[in-house]
Amino acid sequence: MDTRACIRREYFAIFFFLAAAVSIIVLHNMEVLETTCQIQHKVNSTTIIAPRVSTVPDVHRSFCTFQPLSPNDALEERLLLDSIAWPKTPVLPAPLSLEKTSDPAHSSFTILPRRGGGQWHVGDQLEVKINMSDFQGRPKKSGGDFLLARLHNQKLGAGVVGQVVDHLNGSYSAVFSLPWEGDAQVEVTLVHPSEAVPVLNRLNGEQPDRIYFKSLFRSGSISETTICNVCLRPTQPLCNYTDLRTGEPWFCYKPKKLSCDARINHAMGNYKQNLRAYEHKLFQRGVNLKVFIRASGLNIVTILPKMKGQSEVKSSSVKSGPSGYYYQGVWRALGGTTVRQFNNSAIGQCLKGKVVYMYGDSTVRQFFEYLNAVLPGLKEFDLHSPKKAGPYISLDYANNILLMSRFHGPPIRIVTVPTSELRYVANEIDGLVGGTNAVVLFGIWAHFGTFPMEIYIRRLQNIRRAVARLLDRAPGTVVIIRTGNAKALSLSVSLTNSDWYSLQCNKVLRAVFKGLNVHLIDAWEMVLAHQLPHNLHPPSPIIKNMINVILSYVCPQKGG
Ligand SMILES: *[C@@H]1O[C@H](CO)[C@@H](O)[C@H](O)[C@H]1NC(C)=O
Ligand SMILES: *[C@@H]1O[C@H](CO)[C@@H](O)[C@H](O)[C@H]1NC(C)=O
Ligand SMILES: *[C@@H]1O[C@H](CO)[C@@H](O)[C@H](O)[C@H]1NC(C)=O
Ligand SMILES: *[C@@H]1O[C@H](CO)[C@@H](O)[C@H](O)[C@H]1NC(C)=O
Ligand SMILES: *[C@@H]1O[C@H](CO)[C@@H](O)[C@H](O)[C@H]1NC(C)=O
Repeated sequence: MDTRACIRREYFAIFFFLAAAVSIIVLHNMEVLETTCQIQHKVNSTTIIAPRVSTVPDVHRSFCTFQPLSPNDALEERLLLDSIAWPKTPVLPAPLSLEKTSDPAHSSFTILPRRGGGQWHVGDQLEVKINMSDFQGRPKKSGGDFLLARLHNQKLGAGVVGQVVDHLNGSYSAVFSLPWEGDAQVEVTLVHPSEAVPVLNRLNGEQPDRIYFKSLFRSGSISETTICNVCLRPTQPLCNYTDLRTGEPWFCYKPKKLSCDARINHAMGNYKQNLRAYEHKLFQRGVNLKVFIRASGLNIVTILPKMKGQSEVKSSSVKSGPSGYYYQGVWRALGGTTVRQFNNSAIGQCLKGKVVYMYGDSTVRQFFEYLNAVLPGLKEFDLHSPKKAGPYISLDYANNILLMSRFHGPPIRIVTVPTSELRYVANEIDGLVGGTNAVVLFGIWAHFGTFPMEIYIRRLQNIRRAVARLLDRAPGTVVIIRTGNAKALSLSVSLTNSDWYSLQCNKVLRAVFKGLNVHLIDAWEMVLAHQLPHNLHPPSPIIKNMINVILSYVCPQKGG
């Protein structure tokens, strides 16, 4: 990590918010996503008197301009927003203290006895009850805590994600499929207490511009830099760069001397955020941010071989069971396409004669990098692109393979790139012929964590329209979508790109592309089920498994 990445400043005065609120500016370099900056609180929290009643209305609609939607899209947007509504959390009494918030240290889980008694067998379900309590040890009476559950066996390289059910009364269930024989250890993690979720929601509503961007304008010897965003407060004249084909919004403040046409590049600007006093306490590593919850009693069960006549562990396409599990470090799908294992020569065989178009954020670029590293015949062509931004091209002449990777359009938290390289995924897909030799692979999630969900929904609706057109004109095209995944969370990462938001984005993504002939890489489960720590950029053993999933869609088992 570059030490220049974290430059802390003194208080930042923002007129829109209350004077006593905690303010932070962190200047990140390059992709803010990759930073491990720690935000330091300048405020001695024991001496601050928290302003309790906010006078700040939900203002995002006043400066996020949304293009009108067709009646169908508008209805879909409303249904999507309803479908991801999070349980309400009672408003905390003033002044805010942690006392009545969820405390993982006072909470516990218990493995329930097998239904019908006896021992667990492969194919059974295991149920775990989780009781949440607050910092005073009192049982919570409401739901909304963001919990993750996992069953694993490190020696066997095995892991599977459990489905968490919120009973809305302070108790939760986690239900696991049992796909392997042997020991299995239950792990339950509190990612965010329920009280943190309204803070995240509020920030995306009120401060969608807390990560901001900048553009250089230049003409002749004059140059100016202004601030840009999806949602820009109309405090000065704007340049409107809304994409005419997709309607995707983008704005910069108008330069004083130059015209809007003189914009030549785009870059990540700064990160500023304005928490109310004490709110940072809801995001403390080791306290209430991604902390394990202990078991009351045993946390391990032994799973016996499958009983005769028992059905296989199945997962339906609806999201009720896990989409797969690890065994000996290898991802196996439950339902859907069988995941084949591709060694390097098999990867080359599968991709022979193919063109692979990759669009998205850096988590999609990882696939490009992986394939380049393992396929000896593949040579990257130097386009002199900015590092980590692309676009990238790689060619294997002998096997007629072309790989291409390009960032999705703004918002992108990224190094300086020319405006001519800013392309929306939907427009790029519209430019493809497609066909049985074409693979389209995209993933778009990690740069949207600071905005109202409408921004993400509209982006996906645009991409879906383009995918539908592509599959109409070239039905043989293989289209694969990578979901978002869990990350290492600090305070600043939580506030700009929380796992909670990624989870919500994934639900929307699944719903938007449901019914289309597209394939998913369930990066969410593939990261959660794995024994390696959560990372925005999953490490190579996980990427290898994702590549196997991708190639299994491109080159499915014959006859299977
Ligand atoms: C914060 O304020 C308390 C009470 O005034 C004081 O005891 C403590 O030393 C202060 N801490 C810091 C880091 O300034
Ligand atoms: C959870 O709380 C309920 C109600 O207080 C109690 O009956 C139950 O035994 C608790 N379960 C666990 C696993 O602690
Ligand atoms: C919470 O709700 C679940 C499901 O309805 C129930 O089984 C459980 O006993 C309830 N727990 C408490 C503490 O009320
Ligand atoms: C920006 O331009 C688009 C497309 O022309 C238009 O629909 C939208 O109303 C404009 N937005 C603003 C804030 O001017
Ligand atoms: C790679 O896999 C193929 C089948 O998928 C197999 O025939 C071949 O022997 C393997 N090569 C190596 C080096 O393991």
